[in-house]
Amino acid sequence: MKILLLGSGGREHALALSLKASPLELVSAPGSDALAELGTCVNLDLEDPAAVAAWCVANRPDLVVAGPEVPLVAGVADAVRALGIPVFGHDAATARLEGSKAFAKDFMVRHGIPCAASHTVTDLAAGEALIRSWTHGYPIVLKADGLAAGKGVVLAQSQAEALATFRAFLAGQFGEASKTVVFEAPLVGMELSLHVLVDVDAQHASYAMLPACQDHKRIFEGDQGPNTGGMGAFGPIPYLRPADVDLMRTLLVEPTVEGLQKDGLVARGVLFLGVMWTARGPELLEYNVRFGDPETQVLMQLLDEDLAALLLEVAQGRLVSRELKLKPHTAITVVLAAEDYPEGAKKGVPISIGAPAVSVIHAGTRKQGGQWLTNGGRVLNLATSAPDLVTARAAIEAALPEVTWPGRQVRRDIGLKALRHAQAGKTVQDPW
Ligand code: AMP
Ligand code: GLY
Repeated sequence: MKILLLGSGGREHALALSLKASPLELVSAPGSDALAELGTCVNLDLEDPAAVAAWCVANRPDLVVAGPEVPLVAGVADAVRALGIPVFGHDAATARLEGSKAFAKDFMVRHGIPCAASHTVTDLAAGEALIRSWTHGYPIVLKADGLAAGKGVVLAQSQAEALATFRAFLAGQFGEASKTVVFEAPLVGMELSLHVLVDVDAQHASYAMLPACQDHKRIFEGDQGPNTGGMGAFGPIPYLRPADVDLMRTLLVEPTVEGLQKDGLVARGVLFLGVMWTARGPELLEYNVRFGDPETQVLMQLLDEDLAALLLEVAQGRLVSRELKLKPHTAITVVLAAEDYPEGAKKGVPISIGAPAVSVIHAGTRKQGGQWLTNGGRVLNLATSAPDLVTARAAIEAALPEVTWPGRQVRRDIGLKALRHAQAGKTVQDPW
């Protein structure tokens, strides 16, 4: 089997390592030096459906797997699927669930999925009036409608901050993406990441849930400092009971799958539901039409199935709704980030890699003369699984001195808050 994998980061390296557990030919686009060690790389523009399709015509992969959302929103999956080549990745129409927050909110409301009250605004005077008469409490959540590289959500703590953010958005801070703004009521609770494989068309609607994970978005321990793309994750969540997972299935997942079908949308890939577990129960923050990063690094440690066969099943519209085979483990991934991240990233620093007894996943590295160098904000991930979270955390802790460089940033409290919560006998309904 020949697979074309779109992307270049830690999520894609984790997917590639799992794919390569079966004998297959892997081509990554654009890939990275780490991905090149698992196959070959080809420099394709992932925002250009015609370019990806042309490569597929010439090279006939058996499966295309899309890592990031950008090619999906651009229509790459539509173009490749039109050639009769299976794609794990949604059509552009479905990718709007991530590509347009206003579209996603309309979808949630139309299908009765619990979520924050919201208003979509494109007009300066209307938005200013909304802020001045805001009745939902603070922070006021402002979201740029379109893709903004993870920077399009602001939790404004005051009227002045909301007005300044709104004006900057409408003036084009994120180009066209921020000329439509979704205002949301604040949701308070525990945030988690729920991934679901979905295979939906007019004839059938199948899905398979992956274990819920938790990401850690702030740069510093104790959830301090600025937001990042994610500094570490773990899953499954030890205090989440089977009944809690069932509630998310009936309130969030099933209405989503049925809603896709009712709306005539074709889904062939993964949906990553950002969930806030509030005092009222689980509510949906957002859809992503791709795997999370670093959640993928966790999920790949847990999944006990042939990944290529599973993704092909979805891509060919053959998924049968089922419980996926999982290791009876808890997995964890810890991000090793560059100096200056998240404001910048000090690149070109030599990395010392000894003999860690855990998986090393490359996110932002490059290789020069046999030496790995930092080449991005999130540089490497250490990942492992163990029968419980305590043991998994200890394995990462033991491996930390093995993979290091001057200026390396790491959070050593990944999973700790959840562990303490579980050890205290608390549930997802109890506040932290
Ligand atoms: P999103 O891209 O919509 O997930 O937003 C990014 C982050 O902002 C989420 O992961 C949440 O931590 C936070 N967030 C988004 N919407 C809300 C909301 N309505 N209330 C509180 N926090 C939110
Ligand atoms: N870890 C959050 C994301 O991938 O969006």
